[in-house]
Amino acid sequence: MSEKKSTSGRFSARVVGISIAAALGGFLFGFDTAVINGAVDALAGAFDLGPALQGFAVSSALLGCAVGAWFAGSLANKLGRIPVMVIAAVLFLASSIGSGFAFGVIDLIVWRVIGGIGVGAASVIAPAYIAEVSPAKVRGRLGSLQQLAIVTGIFTALLSNALLASIAGSAADVLWFGIEAWRWMFMVESIPAIVYGVMALRLPESPRFLVARGQIDKASQVLFDFTGETDVNVKIEEIRSTLNAEKKESLSDLRGDRFGLKPIVWVGILLSVFQQFVGINVIFYYSTTLWLSVGFDESQALMTSVITSITNIVVTIVAILLVDKVGRRPMLLTGSIGMAVTLGMMAVAFSFGTLQDGSVVLPQPWSLIALICANGFVVFFGATWGPLVWVLLGEMFPNSIRAGALAVAAAAQWIANFFISTTFPAFAEIGLTFAYGFYAFFAVVSFFFVFYQVPETKGRELETMTDVVNLPRRGGSKRA
Ligand code: GLC
Repeated sequence: MSEKKSTSGRFSARVVGISIAAALGGFLFGFDTAVINGAVDALAGAFDLGPALQGFAVSSALLGCAVGAWFAGSLANKLGRIPVMVIAAVLFLASSIGSGFAFGVIDLIVWRVIGGIGVGAASVIAPAYIAEVSPAKVRGRLGSLQQLAIVTGIFTALLSNALLASIAGSAADVLWFGIEAWRWMFMVESIPAIVYGVMALRLPESPRFLVARGQIDKASQVLFDFTGETDVNVKIEEIRSTLNAEKKESLSDLRGDRFGLKPIVWVGILLSVFQQFVGINVIFYYSTTLWLSVGFDESQALMTSVITSITNIVVTIVAILLVDKVGRRPMLLTGSIGMAVTLGMMAVAFSFGTLQDGSVVLPQPWSLIALICANGFVVFFGATWGPLVWVLLGEMFPNSIRAGALAVAAAAQWIANFFISTTFPAFAEIGLTFAYGFYAFFAVVSFFFVFYQVPETKGRELETMTDVVNLPRRGGSKRA
């Protein structure tokens, strides 16, 4: 198949604006998954929770995320991309207020799951929408805004938790209006939730969805006004032909001959699973344990977590600058090597650990090596696999199956995230060398997976993504 040149002669600044607005869903995704960390000890105290229930209070939202991701695809096809964003915003708002006023652990978990459904939906809709409105030549950059928003959300939650706890004295202490600080931590999220909902209502619907619905005039208008498309009729015809090529989208369209699914759907699922199986969220969700083991006290540990999340923001910007120049494959391959080496070194470092008062402590120079490698791992992940998986999931599926395939891949990602974050304490019991060795192993496997299975999508029009699994694997976008 020959590569189609972009028909967009001019690049519209408005597409940047609408991509940023859509990426706000990512901000809530990051905020919501991180906010629980600062609140969990205080709420465990308030509701007198044992370790199992406490663990479930943290991880239950991730199951909600899987459910939200799963249903977002079919909803986005029925109602459109914008209504799904609005629904997600309402769920975020309800969850933040509900969690803040929770009477007991059961209703807290219910509210967290409701917020999780919103996170899952946002994780599907932002990449799909951004890919669908972006001109091909900057689609990687605009798609990476989602990850920039996620990591900014993680950082903001960390900061807001630290500020609220320090104003009150601790997360368990009463802050304003007789309400404890940990409850405010959840309620703060209602501000970005409202902003996201209001912004979503002002966004134009995705032109690919409008064409699928036969609303050609509206689609032409959006393509012309927002995406900078000059030859709108040609574009509409291209979109139409990719939609007509197969019947109306349903989950059964994902079926294929490789273990029951189309090969490209497996590529999406595995990209998602590897992104989680390298253990990134263990660093984010259990950071305090890690930093204490390298010899820091509590406040230094918190500070290091803040620094790590700033590092993650900075390297995402590096990824944004590189993604449309270097291409997806070289970046993912570099990331896999870097992650394998840094995680492998952490596994080695922890083999020198000793148990003191129930926690692992590392001697020098291994504690320094572990510190450097943990941050090095975040750098490699944040500049490559973090943003690029979301970019690829948004762009690499054919128009006819995008929303459904993305939903399945994102649901797989949330389940993988749930698995990795709930097994970490048990893995750590076996030994941190085992835990980091496990993640390093998957970093190695991810290299071969990308090398043999992941197509290069840099610069390609979405309308040419009908058969990307069969593209030659060598780098560059000029391949036919
Ligand atoms: C990616 C992952 C997410 C993780 C984040 C951290 O967005 O999908 O699970 O928390 O990167 O940078």
